[in-house]
Amino acid sequence: MVTATPSAGTAKAKAGLHDPFIWHKLHSLSGIVPIGVFLVQHLIANSYALRGANAYNAVIAVYSYLPFVVLLEIGIIYLPILYHSIYGFYITAYGQPNVGSYKYVRNWMYFLQRVSGVIAFFYIGFHLWNTSIQKYIAQWQGSPNPESVISYQAMSAQMANPWMFAVYIIGITATVFHFSNGIWNFCIRWGLTISDRSQKASAYVCAGIFLVLTGIGIWTSASLRAAGLNPDASSATSSSSVIDEYSPSNVHAGPVVGTASLVTVRSSLDRTL
Ligand code: HEM
Repeated sequence: MVTATPSAGTAKAKAGLHDPFIWHKLHSLSGIVPIGVFLVQHLIANSYALRGANAYNAVIAVYSYLPFVVLLEIGIIYLPILYHSIYGFYITAYGQPNVGSYKYVRNWMYFLQRVSGVIAFFYIGFHLWNTSIQKYIAQWQGSPNPESVISYQAMSAQMANPWMFAVYIIGITATVFHFSNGIWNFCIRWGLTISDRSQKASAYVCAGIFLVLTGIGIWTSASLRAAGLNPDASSATSSSSVIDEYSPSNVHAGPVVGTASLVTVRSSLDRTL
């Protein structure tokens, strides 16, 4: 009788999948790619609000016309965040908090990494519910323009509420802190910064990343809030006269290039707002 004996390679691979080390490495990597990369691009895309309603709504329209957008969202955002969060809670639950024992900055950072991860989890959940999921609900209910739920006008109206504004400021700051401090940890874990000197240099770079990204997020939120508190002034600056000649049906009529395509899709949004 012939029995199949697993090769050494197969045995090793099987052991690897049961080895928490692999899952921890995957957790670490997922924090940078794709989640961290997505976070940076998301903050930059939203900062178009600083250029006013037209620019912001055009960006939203471009994203919603991406082919396979749902698959991209699931594969690049939802599943990685779900994995990172579940494993993150596992690490938080079983990790030893050591702030009381040592008063070193690193130990505080270790503690704050966990606290900011938990805040980020609830903030991201709320933000998703408030934006993406509402958009899909509107789509499912047959709304002709589900993107209006996440338009400049809708977001600025939300930001006018002081509680909502506070939630966004706290959520963005905690999430960006988690990401920036995470880059510092990631560099050590993956052997990129080994010496004390390189770790010090990387701390300055990560502090810079934290300041720049938090600045972008807070500035964007504050400008949306200003528009929400004074909607008449902001609608006066969002000129639609030049673009109104485009009809929504033109969006599907054929290839439109460059600025014209942005303007066309934005005009279709504006009409129904
Ligand atoms: C935008 C969302 C997020 C980003 C960009 C992000 C990014 C990162 C990065 C880059 C790291 C460092 C990896 C390393 O230590 O090598 C990290 C670690 C960590 N993350 Fe996240 N994360 C996010 C959301 C979350 C959430 C929702 C949780 C849930 C609790 C979480 C929990 C953790 C924990 C506990 C660690 C520490 C891992 C360790 O010390 O070994 N993260 N994250």
